[in-house]
Amino acid sequence: MGKYNFDEIINRKNTWASKWDIKEGELPMWVADMDFKTAPEIIDALKSRLDIGALGYTDVPDEWYQAYINWWKTYHGIDIKADELVYSTGVIPTISSTLRKLATPGEKVLIQTPVYNIFYNSILNNGLTVVESPLLLKDGKYYMDFEDLDKKMSDPQVSMMILCNPANPVGRIWNKEELAKVGEIAKKNHVYVISDEVHCDITDPDKSYVPFALASDTCKEISINAIAPTKCFNIAGIQTSAVYVPNPYLRHKVFRQLNTDECGEPNFLAITATLAAFNQGRPWLEELKEYVRANKDYAIKYINENIKGLHALDTQATYLLWVDCREFDKYDTTVGSHIRKVSGLFVSPGEIYGDAGKGFIRINLACPRSMVEEGMDRLKKSFL
Ligand SMILES: Cc1ncc(COP(=O)(O)O)c(C=O)c1O
Repeated sequence: MGKYNFDEIINRKNTWASKWDIKEGELPMWVADMDFKTAPEIIDALKSRLDIGALGYTDVPDEWYQAYINWWKTYHGIDIKADELVYSTGVIPTISSTLRKLATPGEKVLIQTPVYNIFYNSILNNGLTVVESPLLLKDGKYYMDFEDLDKKMSDPQVSMMILCNPANPVGRIWNKEELAKVGEIAKKNHVYVISDEVHCDITDPDKSYVPFALASDTCKEISINAIAPTKCFNIAGIQTSAVYVPNPYLRHKVFRQLNTDECGEPNFLAITATLAAFNQGRPWLEELKEYVRANKDYAIKYINENIKGLHALDTQATYLLWVDCREFDKYDTTVGSHIRKVSGLFVSPGEIYGDAGKGFIRINLACPRSMVEEGMDRLKKSFL
């Protein structure tokens, strides 16, 4: 037993928690936040901040830059300089602002599907068109299709790409060679890459992700990298993040647009939570990663041994489980809706991540083991 208790059930009903806005008797394992309390070190820091009682405007202090620099140097092996970082209220605000600044309406943005559904919103809401380069699924593992990527990017109307690194929902950690290849193809085709790295710190305990900007000098030159402590420390509701842009020309553009969109200033809890996460949160995160991996092991074994026709993919990143249910794609509704209707288990239906996700479901395993066990029982009942 570690120092932190991830088995504890927290009652989030009637707290306006998006995930728990569900029907009576349902079990929510969908939206990507955790049903664990965040690190007590973060809660204590926030309480002390609240105790001051004045909830006024907040600046971004030097300590904020230093916390990001230390974390990425220590755990991800990359040297970031303070002036390469820009404050942003969130990863999606960064993506939307960057698209608005660097692409003009009518241009196209490439994504590798299945991928985080909100990328579609950011692209479409800005008058841009989605170009999909579907990932290839081989023997239970996803790969990028570089030939297709090059072909699609050679369309001069494709001016941007959003990369999900590591990948939500398929859980891949992209390796250095894969990322360098993306950089090379993008540069050749004059495409800038926004790398969404919000899931970077939830990997298997013995693995780590590769920052896109670390893969090659080209990747560094053409990238806008969205990074944050929010997903991995379960503080997404505080809405805080950073953008790491090594190229000064691009950095100025991103900085200006975040400012224009009024996404460049922190709320009064944002800095406190970030500093506590990066400066004191590591032991909690290490234990969390072990717990999530054990949940994954349990769920994968359960599904693959007990539910005929379903295949849970093993993944190295995120707390999300990606399950192939294509054998059951015969219902009047999609398989995700079928599961919810029959058993009350609320998972994310694969088709929201693009056509390449049809017939799949995404299950959020960032919850106490007892919830995972109940979820698996309900999943099995859905197919009896
Ligand atoms: C890939 C990815 N990017 C971004 C976000 C949301 O980031 P933010 O809350 O900072 O806008 C999520 C949340 O699930 C995500 O999965």
